[in-house]
Amino acid sequence: MRRRHLPGVLRIENRSYPRPWSLGIFLSEISLGESRQYFVAVLGSKVIGYCGMMIILDECHITNIAVDGSYGSKGVAKRLLLNAFEVAQGLSIKDMTLEVRASNQIAQRLYFKFGFEPVGIRKNYYAESNEDAVIMWCYDIASEENSRRREKVRAELKDFRRDSTAEESSEGSVDLDVEESIEAQSGESDE
Ligand SMILES: CC(C)(COP(=O)(O)OP(=O)(O)OC[C@H]1O[C@@H](n2cnc3c(N)ncnc32)[C@H](O)[C@@H]1OP(=O)(O)O)[C@@H](O)C(=O)NCCC(=O)NCCS
Repeated sequence: MRRRHLPGVLRIENRSYPRPWSLGIFLSEISLGESRQYFVAVLGSKVIGYCGMMIILDECHITNIAVDGSYGSKGVAKRLLLNAFEVAQGLSIKDMTLEVRASNQIAQRLYFKFGFEPVGIRKNYYAESNEDAVIMWCYDIASEENSRRREKVRAELKDFRRDSTAEESSEGSVDLDVEESIEAQSGESDE
């Protein structure tokens, strides 16, 4: 994620959460160097999703993931998470964690697919809506079982790509390979 992506990121962020992160939070996160990894999924030059990670020793915390609603249920979040796991493995991360709203079944279904499991509750974590957070962990991301899970997710994407190519080409767009357009950068910022 670079500074130039932030207008697109904020557009999605503001539509995704009751208490969205501000520009200042994103700027601060992407300036924090190697302890943070933020990347975007882009279609052409349009940001359609993003994902962030905080790295603490051999643990990684997914801090944020969101996808433009117009591109929802097309595998963008799967691509972002597959990328996050690849980055994490490259950094010898052992375990990954995140918090998710208790009511956010869509996100929880996504995380289950990657081997995250609920291990606890943070009471009233989302104070603005009086809602608990479910704490999820994916232990031992390099295990055979978890690698198999990611292979399965990857295999599901192939069908998606075929389907969406047909759909999007009717709109005149040719750049559909979100996976290859994901930019993974460590805390750098540009103009
Ligand atoms: C959660 C979110 C990131 C998913 O993004 P997405 O690109 O639509 O997800 P994908 O297309 O990659 O789908 C991944 C899985 O999510 C689940 N999912 C996605 N859309 C769904 C829907 N409409 N209904 C039910 N499950 C759904 C499914 O398990 C899906 O896998 P499957 O299609 O093999 O069943 C997106 O809905 C979003 O940005 N929500 C708002 C922000 C948010 O809640 N972020 C998570 C904070 S913890």
